[in-house]
Amino acid sequence: MISGKARVAAVLGWPVAHSRSPRVHGFWLARHGVDGAYVPLALRPESAMQGLRALPALGLAGANVTVPHKETAFAAADLLTDRARRIGAVNTLIVQEDGRLLGDNTDGFGFLANLEQEAPAWRANQGPALVIGAGGAARAVVVALLEAGCPAVILGNRTRERAEALRLALAGVAPELAARVRVVDWDALPPEAANAALVVNTTTLGMVGHPPLQVDLEALPASALVTDIVYTPLETPLLAWARARGNPAVDGLGMLLHQARPGFEAWFGVAPSVDDALRRAVLEDR
Ligand code: ATR
Repeated sequence: MISGKARVAAVLGWPVAHSRSPRVHGFWLARHGVDGAYVPLALRPESAMQGLRALPALGLAGANVTVPHKETAFAAADLLTDRARRIGAVNTLIVQEDGRLLGDNTDGFGFLANLEQEAPAWRANQGPALVIGAGGAARAVVVALLEAGCPAVILGNRTRERAEALRLALAGVAPELAARVRVVDWDALPPEAANAALVVNTTTLGMVGHPPLQVDLEALPASALVTDIVYTPLETPLLAWARARGNPAVDGLGMLLHQARPGFEAWFGVAPSVDDALRRAVLEDR
């Protein structure tokens, strides 16, 4: 039951019906007995700026922002966190006490926090990271890995120019990070791939209804952590391949769950955690 004093947050997207965020936040609100609500709001692209800028006037505590509004949210924010500036997109908006909108990006945080929880040993491996894909998710992952001390990122994408554009955009805001990114042809991985500490698929390949990822990863060492940001299915062909050859593997669901933590804490004042009960609640068919 919520009272008239309930704090309200939302996820804004178009479409928004597929979003799992209401389940994540709904689970935590119930677990912690918070007087609050988290609702999906379908925000049309043509009204995106207007809708995002209206959050403070409506008295919302903030919102998550999903496809296709992450860049508009970046432009709509009055203030940005350093990581949002580096990623060039906003997935979490927090209404400040003075009514200003703070834009954050927690995708990279979620990616790393998930690895810390599921496979912390990857850090002991000093090799570069191999990132496949060059969309918005890739940029968040690249920034997070470089900030976490990964010595280098090898970036491969079907459309090589898009990977070059990602590196250039990063060079504009964080040249020290961009200097450690090397763009390669994704069908001809360089010899350093044989020392990779981890591989991340940030493309939609392997997702239900999409073809599997077909990059030749045979040179990967058996110690390399293989991760996917896809979580439908949890066991993508890439992860199944990795497990079969003995590599550690981590699925994409945890990134979704962990990226939600900073927003929940900011809006509702409780630091939530990610565990199996949450995973089950989020995966339940409804
Ligand atoms: P997001 O913001 O979630 O990362 P995106 O910006 O649409 O999504 O990026 C999708 C990524 O998946 C891109 O790296 C895209 O490669 P291109 O830049 O070459 O389009 C990749 N991708 C999608 N479908 C693909 C396919 N069939 N083969 C190879 N890569 C694909």
